[in-house]
Amino acid sequence: MKLAIATDHGGYPLKKSILDYLSKNKISYLDLGSDSEDSVDYPDYALKVAQMVSTQKVDGGILLCGTGIGMAIVANKFKGVRAAVLPDIHSAKMSKAHNNVNVIALGGRVLEAENALDIIRTWLETPFENARHSRRLAKISEIEEENFK
Ligand code: RB5
Repeated sequence: MKLAIATDHGGYPLKKSILDYLSKNKISYLDLGSDSEDSVDYPDYALKVAQMVSTQKVDGGILLCGTGIGMAIVANKFKGVRAAVLPDIHSAKMSKAHNNVNVIALGGRVLEAENALDIIRTWLETPFENARHSRRLAKISEIEEENFK
């Protein structure tokens, strides 16, 4: 399992705890910036992670900004990316079980670090339920094929 992670200034305060958590749990990752609380534009960072996931160079992505919202909007412009803002544990569980989300977006101005780590742990450990949900994901892929010609 390899992840890519990126943040803007709004998500930066969460980044160190998350990288520590990934290292401690032997989950390999690519850190694609940014590296300070200096103001940057979230699309520039979302696209780095979304490209890696879309081209299957990594298995999943973690994006951090103030709310997670801007990052998720950008990531969902990429083929094969299913990104979601995860504000709580239940959403984290369902995002994998039902939607097989491959990019999660977290809000550095919304979540405490412990909360963010619980959300990441839940997303990583929950299996996709497949069955009827595969049919729905296939419909999403069809929509994507139609709209991204
Ligand atoms: C930056 O101020 C903020 O807009 C950004 O981090 C994010 O919350 C956008 O969705």
